[in-house]
Amino acid sequence: MEITPSILTADFCRLGETIDEALDAGIGWLHMDVMDGNWVVNRTITFGPALIKSVRERVGPEVFIDCHLMITNAEETWEQYANAGVDLVIAHLEAVEDFPKLISEMHESGVKSGCVINPDTPIDGILPFLSELDLVLVMSVVPGKGGQSFIPQVEGKVRSLREAIDFQIENGGRETKLMIDGGIKDHNAALVAGWGIDVAVVGSGLINNQAPIGENLASITNSLEI
Ligand code: DX5
Ligand code: ZN
Repeated sequence: MEITPSILTADFCRLGETIDEALDAGIGWLHMDVMDGNWVVNRTITFGPALIKSVRERVGPEVFIDCHLMITNAEETWEQYANAGVDLVIAHLEAVEDFPKLISEMHESGVKSGCVINPDTPIDGILPFLSELDLVLVMSVVPGKGGQSFIPQVEGKVRSLREAIDFQIENGGRETKLMIDGGIKDHNAALVAGWGIDVAVVGSGLINNQAPIGENLASITNSLEI
């Protein structure tokens, strides 16, 4: 299971150094949480395309960057994030009217396309276009901030999506990645790996005041080997 850091708990004045520290520790995928002060329940604003563009320029072309859009108008604005240099745009099923149209527009522009669902959203809405998606993300916290507690009740949805994706791959279809986001730490990383997660987003479990990123990452990866 690959680990990607959410930078929400970083000191934004030191963001460049923090990202360098993550890359030095072996991270090859960055997760950028975009909130527009409107869509998430707590009305938080995080950052937009300008910051993502600076991150892309700093890390160069080799690092994989996704953006998780927790915004009202992803259908009109996703291109700004693609132009800022992300590899993969992840939009919320709950916030988009015509998801298949969004996916084909993204693919036409050459960016990968992901769909994310909240902890209480069923997977049924995704299944009709699963074969077109490069990634499916299951939220294991209610989106809005880092440092929240993991919601274990998403297990059933993750396992069903794993089965559907495996069936798709076995039949020669797209290798859609399965991601989880929210409350993942060294004590539950092995649990979600066992559910069949390909990529886990880790925010406060990686970027915190307790230990350097390298040490936090090592305790997560060690927990996966036991
Ligand atoms: C929540 C974000 C997550 C979150 C991850 O709205 O999408 O990426 O900040 O942070 P932790 O791992 O601290 O829950
Ligand atoms: Zn996220």
